Amino acid sequence: MSTFWSWWVIILFVGTVIGVCWVLIANRKVVLRDDQEVEDGTPKTGHVYDGIEEYDNPLPAWWFKMFIGSVVFSFVYVVLYPGLGNFPGLLGWTSISQWQQQEARADERFEAVYAKFEGQSIEELAANPAAFKIGRRLFGNNCAVCHGSDGGGAYGFPDLTDDDWLYGNTPQAIETSIRHGRRGVMPGWGAALGEAGVSEVTEYLFKLGGRDHDEALATAGEQKFAGFCAGCHGADASGNVALGAPDLSDDIWLYGGSPEMIKTSIRSGRQGNMPAQDKMLRTSKIRLLTSYVYGLSER
Ligand code: HEC
Ligand code: HEC
Repeated sequence: MSTFWSWWVIILFVGTVIGVCWVLIANRKVVLRDDQEVEDGTPKTGHVYDGIEEYDNPLPAWWFKMFIGSVVFSFVYVVLYPGLGNFPGLLGWTSISQWQQQEARADERFEAVYAKFEGQSIEELAANPAAFKIGRRLFGNNCAVCHGSDGGGAYGFPDLTDDDWLYGNTPQAIETSIRHGRRGVMPGWGAALGEAGVSEVTEYLFKLGGRDHDEALATAGEQKFAGFCAGCHGADASGNVALGAPDLSDDIWLYGGSPEMIKTSIRSGRQGNMPAQDKMLRTSKIRLLTSYVYGLSER
């Protein structure tokens, strides 16, 4: 927070609390006006609603004390905890440090569990039911938001249960995907190919996939594919795991296989982003996740 906003918050906080105290204390005693009507020793406000008159009583004492108590509490709170602009609070508490402490405690508790799996290869772990169970939990907590709870993927998020892989399905490749993340870079070709060229290449992809297509357009598209696309997707369009370029000759589509979706991919490009997990997850967890994902595709 900049110094300006820090002071803004401090003045707003202190000003509001002082204001509330003033209102509270100023109204503590009822000062009779000259013209005020009094009934049985209790002054009236003069407000009448449907024949019911309002008395001009001060706050009940217990209520007044509760207000004072909450004012004192709010001051003690902002002195101990962060809240007053940039002042960190005397206890030095932050939500991050609390989270880190909890993580460290959990890691300590589970380290013994993970230690059992240390000497095993990814293939062995994938066949180990205990490791699979933990892997499934870790997947649910860390990966399911994007890849689906069953790993089945969604629009833009690859299916991890099939045998079609952007970056390969060796234990090594899967571990690298998880540990360091992946960034797919498909440039847009709309400007280079023109709308007619996009359609021609799309017809060629239909031909490769065994779908209905226009033969003349597909032949024109084949040439354009060799010139513009084969460098990444391969001469036979079967993909390239080194670049994360998907197989375009099968019927599995990361971004949808309708003619319009395929044309959008070609025209505007695609940039899938798998976030690196090495900052969030320890090696023991990454290995269990690798074996889980490896096991998913082998199953
Ligand atoms: C620089 C390398 C590169 C070139 C050149 C390239 N692509 Fe791609 N393409 C990729 C990558 C990488 C992806 C995956 C993007 C992602 O993961 O988000 C991709 C994705 C696609 C997709 C989406 C596939 C799906 O499963 O939904 C289509 C369609 C596609 N490319 C067609 C083409 C066509 C047609 C050309 C030539 C005009 C071409 N690409 C040229 C790298 C390339
Ligand atoms: C924010 C969304 C997101 C999260 C969270 C996420 N992923 Fe991904 N993941 C992606 C995307 C997007 C790709 C595809 C990247 C590309 O297009 O190049 C991907 C790709 C992958 C791949 C490579 C797939 C292939 O075909 O080669 C693996 C393996 C993978 N993720 C595993 C995981 C695991 C395990 C986790 C949990 C620790 C996880 N992902 C969490 C979005 C996510």
